[in-house]
Amino acid sequence: MMTTPANLKPPARLALRGDLFDFTGAPAWGEVDSAAVRFRPDHWLLIENGRIAGAQLEAPDASWTQEDHTGKLILPGFIDSHVHMPQLDVIASYGTELLDWLNTYTFPAETRYVDPEHSRAGAELFVDALLAHGTTAAVAFPTVHKTSVDALFGAAQTRGMRLIAGKVLQDRHSPDGLRDDVDQAERDCIDLIDRWHGNERLAYAVTVRFAPTSTPAQLAMAGALCRADASLYMQTHVAENRAEVAWARELFPEARSYLDVYARAGLLHRRSVLAHGIWIDAADRAALRDSGAQIAHSPSSNLFLGSGLFDWRAAAAGGAAVSLASDVGGGTSLSMLRTMADAYKVQAMAGQRLTAWCALHAATLGAAQALDLTDEIGSLEAGRVADVCVWDWAADPVAHRRMKVARGLHERAFAWMTLADDRNLAAAFVAGTARYRRGAKP
Ligand code: GUN
Ligand code: ZN
Repeated sequence: MMTTPANLKPPARLALRGDLFDFTGAPAWGEVDSAAVRFRPDHWLLIENGRIAGAQLEAPDASWTQEDHTGKLILPGFIDSHVHMPQLDVIASYGTELLDWLNTYTFPAETRYVDPEHSRAGAELFVDALLAHGTTAAVAFPTVHKTSVDALFGAAQTRGMRLIAGKVLQDRHSPDGLRDDVDQAERDCIDLIDRWHGNERLAYAVTVRFAPTSTPAQLAMAGALCRADASLYMQTHVAENRAEVAWARELFPEARSYLDVYARAGLLHRRSVLAHGIWIDAADRAALRDSGAQIAHSPSSNLFLGSGLFDWRAAAAGGAAVSLASDVGGGTSLSMLRTMADAYKVQAMAGQRLTAWCALHAATLGAAQALDLTDEIGSLEAGRVADVCVWDWAADPVAHRRMKVARGLHERAFAWMTLADDRNLAAAFVAGTARYRRGAKP
């Protein structure tokens, strides 16, 4: 994999030739012919000073550095709306549901991130792995340790990436070495917000691990941080697993629902990202709609940990925003394409059909919209930062054959989404700089 030093300037004018694909709006549920899809085969995407300048059929003049990717797909970089930096260490761990998985594998692994060198190496590996899977922006959990937050933001900044993250808050029901307390946590958050929030392409998320591992006092502190600055994000987990939901009900009997625990603490707002949301009801969906918060749907994780089948259609019908997330290490791949393929299968299990358009939108423009970032990422519109990826339509003989016989754009896009993975990625650009090229040495 290739990483370009931060001080290496990309060409001021770069033109990429290929099949341009993005969205100009939101596709409706179940709609295979959608006016929201913009497909411009064999066009040139023009990138000037790291931003998209336009697209055209004819080759640009010699003032543009040209890269010819004829026959390949060019998409906005994927946005992973929920993923854990330290959990590459526990991805693919056998045999548990959520609460046992946390205690057996995840908490012990996260404890090691107290070490700055462990954090630095883990963060570098993580952001390079995201890029090598075509993910150019993420909403990510580091650990409870301040040093892991600095390492993650630092690694993303070196690569010019859009990243949203924050120190994990957990002051109870957590092992030694993975607990904070309200006062120290508040001081750490304030310092981290000061140094990282709005620093280039980085933004801070008040990060509550999940309600069971925070005292009411810590939730109140987190809510006060959000109230004090509406530009902060909030990220957490909600209603993922039935035993977890029962535990949250026991710990917070005054709340109407698990989601309501967060609402009562002032943590449900326009910039809230809540992973999972499998076991929610119609009143919760209305609360999500009214607050503008989003569910980060994590199908790979939900299948792997046996958590349940998320009702995407009910969420969409209820007006709740849904983005897509790998949730590694509960999820088993950083690939947003594998995530989409899993999302289709989860909906199929529930008797629903997820179109390629709904899936691809949720990992690009839809996520950007839910994160309030459409001016920056999620599409190939002029003016956006040039976070773009170049993909092979097919990476092996079976996929080549399938592409050859596919009729119509949706059939092709759906087969691509279902069969492709990181082997299909030819290059990933962040703000117009190539940060990954297949086969290139570091
Ligand atoms: N709930 C609380 N912590 C976690 C975590 O690390 N992963 C998942 N999937 N769910 C959680
Ligand atoms: Zn998670």
